[in-house]
Amino acid sequence: MSKPQLSESHHPRPQWKSRMGFILAAIGSAVGLGNIWRFSYLCYKNGGGAFLIPYTIALLVVGIPLMILELGIGHKMRGAAPLSFAKIDRRWEWCGWWAVVCAMYGIMLYYSAVISWCLSYVFYSFNLSWGDDPNDFFFNKFLQLSSGPLQIGDIRTPIIIALALVWFLCWLIVYFGVQKGVERANKIFMPLLFALTLILVIWSVNLKGAFSGIVVYLKPNFSLLSEPQIWIDAFSQIFFTLSLAFGIMIAYASYLPRKVDIVKDAFIICVGNCMYSFIAGFAVFGTLGYMATTTNQPVADVVKESIGLAFVAYPQAISLMPAFAKIFGVLFFTSLVIAGLSSAISLVEAFSSAVLDKFNYPRNTVVTFVCVSGFVGSIIFTAKSGLYWVDIVDHFITHYGLVIIGILECVAIGWIFKAKKLREHMIAAGGTFLHGSLWDICVKYVTPIILIGLLVKDFWTEITTAYEGYPWLAILLIGRDWLVVALFAALLLSMRRWKKEVVETINSKNHH
Ligand code: ALA
Repeated sequence: MSKPQLSESHHPRPQWKSRMGFILAAIGSAVGLGNIWRFSYLCYKNGGGAFLIPYTIALLVVGIPLMILELGIGHKMRGAAPLSFAKIDRRWEWCGWWAVVCAMYGIMLYYSAVISWCLSYVFYSFNLSWGDDPNDFFFNKFLQLSSGPLQIGDIRTPIIIALALVWFLCWLIVYFGVQKGVERANKIFMPLLFALTLILVIWSVNLKGAFSGIVVYLKPNFSLLSEPQIWIDAFSQIFFTLSLAFGIMIAYASYLPRKVDIVKDAFIICVGNCMYSFIAGFAVFGTLGYMATTTNQPVADVVKESIGLAFVAYPQAISLMPAFAKIFGVLFFTSLVIAGLSSAISLVEAFSSAVLDKFNYPRNTVVTFVCVSGFVGSIIFTAKSGLYWVDIVDHFITHYGLVIIGILECVAIGWIFKAKKLREHMIAAGGTFLHGSLWDICVKYVTPIILIGLLVKDFWTEITTAYEGYPWLAILLIGRDWLVVALFAALLLSMRRWKKEVVETINSKNHH
């Protein structure tokens, strides 16, 4: 006997107003805090221009195939991640929930905290509050960092105020819905972000000594290509930067009209995002080159790790600017806030859309509940130990949560639903595959095998060395348990009944 299957909801699904609106929203989700400094730092650390080789390979074998997969399945199933997975097989619904719970109550909680740091720095730029010692300012005055992740410490008032503002903005945008909120905000945010970035790039590359920084950024050191770490970094960066395995692209594609060229749009989103990272790297390294020249140090000495690059090295460089330093600072941190916000709203939308699919609550109530609970949850990251928590939760969710969900997506779509069937759907909708079966091979074999390899290597390093030397208790309680609790929440949510209008037909069209 066939099991009851899920049919489409009778409620009309929201739709993007225009194709451009959808592409801007998807690029808005992809281009985020990570693009501006994380990419450049990874490039520098992993052999400069040589890093572009594993990065491009990761884009081709994981990034683009998974982007097509997520857009395709969201479009076909017309649902957020849990509904889409449930339509493939009811037993897989938890996987969709796990993706959106990790994205919303994992990534978004610390992501909003980091945006709030950037927002605070927009204000600090007006009078260069960090003075002569941005390092001391960031760690000791601003964060008042405690001695370890388990020494939680008090809440930092300036951070929680900025955090409340970030959540308020997210709530306001998502509250107004797909067209009037998310689409409209991105139509303003994205051109503004591109313009600001362009100004920063032109400004930076014209600074004295900028060229020395750009040489460091791009000079290839091919000998590093034999190190496994460079490949792990490239693949995990592609995952995070393209917002894959968060359930976002699935939800965004569910708002597309019937006729759409998904393959072409997936290419535009992926290439647009990666080009943005590459170009922003010129601003970052041009500025560092200037700083190295001014302070008479080698560029290598002024480069700091990701967080330090934005909040320590950059403020230092800004203070050294011969003119308009404050304006430069405001532009740089405003770019980070805009890039962060456009990704943050996509994280909130992906989860809200999943709840709306399943339960009979009005959109406004769901969005308000999600944002208020998100704000409350993110308060822990405003404590004096916040930076450690950001680091640990980010590491576990991006290295394990996203990669495992990526593998599960390949299995569910490649093998259970069948890649060929989804490809035929995309072609029927107007998609142009140049070498279609190549995509099937990627989704069924290449992508999952590579991801499993990465996972095993990463896990091996994990159990042999404590991440960043943190106490094991902190790693297990904060990192591992965050993922496990999210998994439990996903299982519980998937056990709840679907609203009446969704569970309807016995033989869903998907199983013919
Ligand atoms: N894709 C977003 C970023 O890179 C989450 O920050």
